[in-house]
Amino acid sequence: MTSEFAGIAADFPDPFKLIIRESAASTNDEIRALADLGHSHGVVLIALRQTAGRGRRGATWFASPGDSLAFSILLRPDEPQALWPRLALATGLAVAEAVESFGPAAGIKWPNDVWFGNRKTAGILVEAANNCAIVGIGLNVNTPAFPPELQPIATSLHIETGHPVSRAEVLAAIVTRCAIRFPQIGADFNQMLDGVRQRCVLTGNHVTLKTISGNLDGLVEGIAPGGELLLRTRTGLKHIVHADEIRLA
Ligand code: BTN
Repeated sequence: MTSEFAGIAADFPDPFKLIIRESAASTNDEIRALADLGHSHGVVLIALRQTAGRGRRGATWFASPGDSLAFSILLRPDEPQALWPRLALATGLAVAEAVESFGPAAGIKWPNDVWFGNRKTAGILVEAANNCAIVGIGLNVNTPAFPPELQPIATSLHIETGHPVSRAEVLAAIVTRCAIRFPQIGADFNQMLDGVRQRCVLTGNHVTLKTISGNLDGLVEGIAPGGELLLRTRTGLKHIVHADEIRLA
């Protein structure tokens, strides 16, 4: 079967190239196997049907076949491994910029959920593997409507623009923005952070964070120069590197 994605890799910047799978349990796991076989920086693996998608914090990620995008990118960054966690922010920004090129302004829920209004349209799972990083992206593109229980929290490009959008073009737009943002985890990090700060939906809001050492309440003051979330709590300003869950109060 020829998929709608067959010709789109011609629009990818160097050195990104596309592998299409009819079906995969998780594209992150599938591309990790390719990494172990020595595949190079810039391989993008998309599954037309993802049957066991993984989200952050061990959650399941459901990608509705035909409507959504589920793909992973294999990276072998030149930058030191200590900087690779910044790829989470870089990817969130790249996805936000890409979807904005189809219409509505997008927000970023730190570190990297992409929102329209107060509803999520994309989730990102960055994992480190043997000498490489794997960036997994799940995006609701043409989902026409969500079941009632998801309507308050989930949205799609289709819902936001009012019309279906080419998934192949969305994929190419994301890869193109990733090619610009990924190298900025090094010297140009500050410039990249500006884009994240402009879109950060948490800034100025009271939130509850779930961390390994318990819940933390506070006011989000912004994003620090290192990419951490700045949380003003009763006991002072905290630099949050990682949170299991962030709820807007
Ligand atoms: C999250 O918001 O919890 C992250 C969701 C990440 C889902 C994507 S879909 C493609 C890639 N393969 C996976 O198994 N997960 C990521």
